[in-house]
Amino acid sequence: MTDSSKTATLTIDGTSYDLPLLSPTAGPNVIDIRKLYAQAGVFTYDPGYTSTASCDSTITYIDGAKGELLHRGYPIDQLAEKSHYLEVCYLLLYDNLPTAAELEAFEATITRHTMIHEQMHNFFRGFRRDAHPMATMVGVVGAMSAFYHDSTDISDPRQREIASHRMIAKMPTIAAMAYKYSIGQPFVYPRNDLDYASNFLHMCFAVPAEQYEVDPILSRAMDRIFILHADHEQNASTSTVRLASSSGANPFACIAAGIACLWGPAHGGANQACLEMLKEIGSVDRIPEFIARAKDKDDPFRLMGFGHRVYKNFDPRAKVMKQSADEVLDLLGIENNPVLQVAKELEKQALDDPYFAEKKLFPNVDFYSGIILEAMGFPTSMFTPIFALSRTVGWISQWKEQLSDPAHKIGRPRQLYLGETARKYVDVEDR
Ligand code: ACO
Repeated sequence: MTDSSKTATLTIDGTSYDLPLLSPTAGPNVIDIRKLYAQAGVFTYDPGYTSTASCDSTITYIDGAKGELLHRGYPIDQLAEKSHYLEVCYLLLYDNLPTAAELEAFEATITRHTMIHEQMHNFFRGFRRDAHPMATMVGVVGAMSAFYHDSTDISDPRQREIASHRMIAKMPTIAAMAYKYSIGQPFVYPRNDLDYASNFLHMCFAVPAEQYEVDPILSRAMDRIFILHADHEQNASTSTVRLASSSGANPFACIAAGIACLWGPAHGGANQACLEMLKEIGSVDRIPEFIARAKDKDDPFRLMGFGHRVYKNFDPRAKVMKQSADEVLDLLGIENNPVLQVAKELEKQALDDPYFAEKKLFPNVDFYSGIILEAMGFPTSMFTPIFALSRTVGWISQWKEQLSDPAHKIGRPRQLYLGETARKYVDVEDR
């Protein structure tokens, strides 16, 4: 990884320090500053980690300029077209695409772990009826550590694997139960004769009183949404999982931390915020008003579903999502959907506007996903839980990779302190 022929030189007050350059298999070289403080007595300053690699990884690669997303080297558009979610899960977890026998065994394992401990039902019932499903998910996933003690020893690779399988298998059940609870319907148990996406749709939309048939085209669209959200290298929630894990926390606690981070509107909450924004815009003639607000420095409003920290050309996931939106609405016979019309026209007008072009702001994966999910029958409050269930495999793969690295350390950023220096305590009567 280190290219010994190349170094970066840093000069401070006339003294030079040679810093090793690390060469990745793809992407820009990385300056290794691990010994900088010991050698030069200085820290680097990088709020938001815009120029800092926090780890090395072999899972996902993004080229923001090219709009390229690779999982273990495979482009996301090929995976979305040819693969299915559980195969992508295997790829992320185990480095390579599975053989037919490996895939069959993996699917059987995941399928057999879909039920949750029956006592966990009481945990759901402890939440207020109107709790946001994300609040329920953060709590219930964190509580899994109290129900599955036999897979919390992170020093045991087999226990780590069991915890991984449990979370991939049970997350759809937990998300569906959070939804059912929030609308006052009975929980629907998983059905192991259904594939992963169909089972999730069944647990969300079936009721005991009626037969529910899963539409295979909707199931395929659901599966594609899962694939498109499966992993995205060191984003905020994944970095949260790695930071939580660096202290030796158990896997369920780490994933609960990731879910909490994902909830924010700048990250996974953007799909909910985006659909709400499109509805607020309401009609094509109001688009210029909202574009003007997004450009106004004195207005905190941003176009939700637009912009990305890494993609500065286009988000390859957004292309597939836009195509899926057309397919799903067509299938459901929803013609001239006003929200889709506003979305398409907003995308067009924003892309034609120099402000968005100069700042390299393009629709991201969340711009069209909410339209599909709503057409399928999901309320906006379920959008981020669906993202969380899809991203679980990414968080787990990154967690597994981190723990397999014998050199991993507790994460502990430094700071640029700008507060008071030491002061003498003054008794309250003298202040
Ligand atoms: N609308 C209007 N202006 C924007 C937008 C937007 N959506 N996004 C960025 N900008 C502007 C900023 O005002 C800033 O302008 P300035 O340089 O004049 O100050 C410039 O573009 C750069 O923005 P930053 O916030 O510095 O970029 P950063 O990389 O930190 O943020 C982020 C990326 C958080 C995604 C941002 O683009 C945003 O808030 N987008 C809307 C929320 C969203 O869609 N999030 C989902 C991200 S994808 C995901 O999590 C799955």
